[in-house]
Amino acid sequence: MRELIRTPVTSLYVHVPFCAQKCEYCAFFSEASSGELINRYVNALQRELELVAEDLRPHTIFFGGGTPSLLNLRQWESLLQTMGRLDLLGASEFTVECNPATVSLDKAKLLRGYGVDRISMGVQSLDEKLLDRLGRVHSREMVFKSFDTLRQAGFDNVNIDLMFAIPGQTKDVWRATLDEAIALGSEHLSSYEVIYEEDTPLYAQLNAGEFDVDEDLACDMFEELVQRSGAVGFQQYEIANFARDVRVGQSFKASALIDPLLPALACQHNVNYWRGGDFYGLGPSATGYVRGVRTKNWANTQLYCEQLEKGKRAIESREEFEPLKRAGETAAFGLRMNAGWPFAEFERVTGQDLRREWSADMDSLVQKGWALRSPDRFQLTSQGLRFADTAAELFLR
Ligand SMILES: C[S@@+](CC[C@H](N)C(=O)[O-])C[C@H]1O[C@@H](n2cnc3c(N)ncnc32)[C@H](O)[C@@H]1O
Ligand code: SF4
Repeated sequence: MRELIRTPVTSLYVHVPFCAQKCEYCAFFSEASSGELINRYVNALQRELELVAEDLRPHTIFFGGGTPSLLNLRQWESLLQTMGRLDLLGASEFTVECNPATVSLDKAKLLRGYGVDRISMGVQSLDEKLLDRLGRVHSREMVFKSFDTLRQAGFDNVNIDLMFAIPGQTKDVWRATLDEAIALGSEHLSSYEVIYEEDTPLYAQLNAGEFDVDEDLACDMFEELVQRSGAVGFQQYEIANFARDVRVGQSFKASALIDPLLPALACQHNVNYWRGGDFYGLGPSATGYVRGVRTKNWANTQLYCEQLEKGKRAIESREEFEPLKRAGETAAFGLRMNAGWPFAEFERVTGQDLRREWSADMDSLVQKGWALRSPDRFQLTSQGLRFADTAAELFLR
């Protein structure tokens, strides 16, 4: 029988499971680095790339972690050369996550030279005491210095991650961090309320009664974020994500082509993710979603390396979803974006029609003032976005 022609997957996520030190709040799979294990991981990752390369033509690439910027120049060069040999470079958006403590001009120039065109830098706070409180490895000065270094290396599309509702953070301290972060002039801002993840020191401190959570204060801080970022031209396009809608240098991005309601510099990789697109997920603990199957790699770097050294993918689990269940999850996820769902796009991705299965659910949200429905799209209002998790539950099947 003739083999069906498959269209290659266009999105790649790579997880780098190392950090200089572990932050108090963080549950991402990562560990404090040890030199030899990183070399071994880099080799294993190259084997994994070889195993999927034939089915991959990335338009978007995202190296996240952990701390990808912890890899040294030699490790990055070897990885990027392999990607070049496998014809995996040339994406229209290639992001690498960085920690301000591990940015150098040489490394930034090397990445830029291989086509990395977007950096996402974890800043969290610009208050020295809070940085300490969170167990961050860098000072506020390092943030400013690293940002300059990235600009010097030619990066004109930089995201900054901030966190709010940090224990001990007052409204004034949050305002000061926001204003200083905005003054850096980044093209993109991501800002999340602290999540108390099980098995983190911060979670244990909360349970031990060392501090209280003040939800009203967190709401006020979120309002400040929306107002202050909006006042300087950031457009909110997802609950926690803000981007500029302008051409910056030469790097005009195609996000607005994906959906005219998106700002030009929205993260295309994450938009694909929120909109239920396929992507390969490589590296320890990474999840991927390809042709209806969700895979999860082993969250164990030793085991990950051993599997790939034997020439096998390091997949711990595979899950295939019943189409309506998957479509419901996809609907819920996509509603976190201000642009919501164009009905045609939802049908293209899921094969289901939002207007058939979920009509009554959409109408109930419209009646509450939480959503808007037009002939071609359904989206949450700013009030609805505040209760996005509750709204999203209606779509799960
Ligand atoms: C993988 S980290 C970013 C890059 C780099 N590892 C760093 O921290 O500098 C991704 C982002 O997730 C956010 N994050 C991680 N854990 C969080 C938590 N428990 N609550 C809220 N945001 C969190 C932080 O803003 C962080 O920058
Ligand atoms: S927030 Fe970033 S630097 Fe801190 S432990 Fe998590 S991944 Fe590592």
